[in-house]
Amino acid sequence: MIYKRAFEFARAMLSTERFEHSVSTARYGYRLAEQYGVDPERAYLAGILHDVAREMPARSLYLQARKQGIILRREETTCPLLLHGKVAAYIVESELGVRDKGVLNAIASHVVGRRHWTKLEQIVYLADKVEPTRVYPGADVVRKLLEEGEFERALLESLRNAITYAAQSRGWIVDTETVVVFNEIAKTEA
Ligand SMILES: [Fe+2]
Ligand SMILES: [Fe+2]
Repeated sequence: MIYKRAFEFARAMLSTERFEHSVSTARYGYRLAEQYGVDPERAYLAGILHDVAREMPARSLYLQARKQGIILRREETTCPLLLHGKVAAYIVESELGVRDKGVLNAIASHVVGRRHWTKLEQIVYLADKVEPTRVYPGADVVRKLLEEGEFERALLESLRNAITYAAQSRGWIVDTETVVVFNEIAKTEA
């Protein structure tokens, strides 16, 4: 029942294109969860709902986050779009009645990752970044690693892509949380 409501909720909040991305994220997340021993239903639910706040204007995201008492990091003040995961988690809890903390955390952390995150969160992060409709350079490499059972290497590559892409995009910033998460996983060779 919640799946049907979540589906309708996401459809109402999003453009067709982004809704399709959300469905694809949910499906791909379901498959990854099955493969890597996480509850696929929870990955699916988080996938469908992860971007419900993505099309809110930056100013609304900022105000909404302030209203919810979210302590804003410097990056989030500079670039409120980074808040769309945290705001989505709040909306989904208050308006859809989703109480599963793991699902809410996965929605909240899909944008930049989170230190000490769970496997469910990592799966939703990866599903968002490399679901099959994503065609940027590097997405194929991550999908192939996932197919081969190389979860950690896939996650590292995906975080590397995110950091590189952010650094190369004018008018954008690199979120330090992603860098922290990347460094937690990266093996130093020195
Ligand atoms: Fe997103
Ligand atoms: Fe997304």
